[in-house]
Amino acid sequence: MFEGLVKLRRPAAPTTVPAPAPDAPRVYLQTFGCQMNVADSDLIAAELLRAGFARTEDLDAADVALVNTCAVREQAEEKVARRLEELAAWRRQQPGRVVGVTGCMAEHLRDELLAIAPGVDLVCGPDSYRRIADLVQQARTEDARGPLFDLHLDKRETYEGLDVSPGGDGVSGFLTIQRGCDKFCTFCIVPYTRGRERGTPPREVLRAARAFAEAGYREVTLLGQTVNSYRWQDVRFSDLLRAVAAVPGLERIRFTSPYPIDFSADLIEVIASEPKVQKHVHLPLQSGSDSVLTRMRRGYGYAEFVGIVHALRAGDSDIAITTDIITGFSGETEAEHRATLRALEECAFDGAFTFKYSERDGAKAARDLPDDVPEVVKQRRLDEVIAIVRRLQLAKNEAYVGRTVELLVTGQAKRGGQLAGRTGTFKQAVFADPTGTTRAGDLVRVRITGTTSATLRAELVR
Ligand code: 5AD
Repeated sequence: MFEGLVKLRRPAAPTTVPAPAPDAPRVYLQTFGCQMNVADSDLIAAELLRAGFARTEDLDAADVALVNTCAVREQAEEKVARRLEELAAWRRQQPGRVVGVTGCMAEHLRDELLAIAPGVDLVCGPDSYRRIADLVQQARTEDARGPLFDLHLDKRETYEGLDVSPGGDGVSGFLTIQRGCDKFCTFCIVPYTRGRERGTPPREVLRAARAFAEAGYREVTLLGQTVNSYRWQDVRFSDLLRAVAAVPGLERIRFTSPYPIDFSADLIEVIASEPKVQKHVHLPLQSGSDSVLTRMRRGYGYAEFVGIVHALRAGDSDIAITTDIITGFSGETEAEHRATLRALEECAFDGAFTFKYSERDGAKAARDLPDDVPEVVKQRRLDEVIAIVRRLQLAKNEAYVGRTVELLVTGQAKRGGQLAGRTGTFKQAVFADPTGTTRAGDLVRVRITGTTSATLRAELVR
């Protein structure tokens, strides 16, 4: 959704971390995967800066290369494996260089990672970042005594108290409020790579939200694997949303990804009534077939899902709803697949992320259910899903043409000196600013003049 945009960074925010010394060891940090990984990378970077490291975007100038990884599908791991091959060559070019793997793939593959990627010095899971600076330091002095592992998952770790270092584009930031997952969908590796679900204490969430606001951010997205399952003592997710919405300076609050059946009435009410909570919900359906949903252990049937869609639209008829779909899950028949195609039309989603089922070692389905849909069938079904999603997305966008909406300006668009922004419903829009006075972070009113399936065209309304 963000592709094709050049991010326009706002001036660096004031920080409690001192500027790195000129001879500080330099760390190159690359992120794969979800938004939570992006936020985790910011956390890793802040810990390293605090310990006296410097960050660099230039691999050749780096002393340490860290790759923060994703394990959710085989393709994600293959991408990382290819990058690690390149980094092994980089490491050989100069003695003392260190390569580290952090995140879900580290946790998933553990020492098997070394078979795929020899030349890794540090393997570190998602609950080990409090120790990341020490670990990197140790790896740098370890001198060929073999790689270091820190893969302990800790049900209590929420990274409370660490430096909040707003990352992202300076306009819109990610704020992790929950880590881990307790749902155990049969296809999914996340409960095993990120451990048990835990909520960040509300005081800590608010401390971070204020830090974002003070750094000039206008929008925060609250993150969790099943973000609306959040609970901290008697604080519900809806209470937390209201509290974050009350932080001065923050204009737009989002959250992702919710778990469908944890959409309680109080949450639906907050979304409908709190103006700062943006009218977009990403609601992962996965399949439109009840029998597939049962095999996935999603905990809901299609009718229940539709009930939530209706409740959200009853709260705000304009709300945008996007989803995730997996094609070719174990045993998926043609009829089950057609149920998904029908569901897409019925729910009239604004967009979807679509995936072919990828069997994950360690997840329940890999033990109990055969990965028996041929690759060509998975692909054809995926293509059918994508065709419908594109058509629905275009239709939704076309309905915006002629309307006047508010955009949060995120930066410069790729083409023609235009600016880019997002609607409250998370639609991408580009527009020209003849006066040259509009800045990233501004909220502007625009009229939508045209669209493609991906991007709205707009003009400023004065
Ligand atoms: N295969 C394919 N897609 C998967 N997802 C999660 N695990 C798998 C898997 N094993 C998808 C789901 C989820 C999204 C983040 O990734 O659709 O919602």
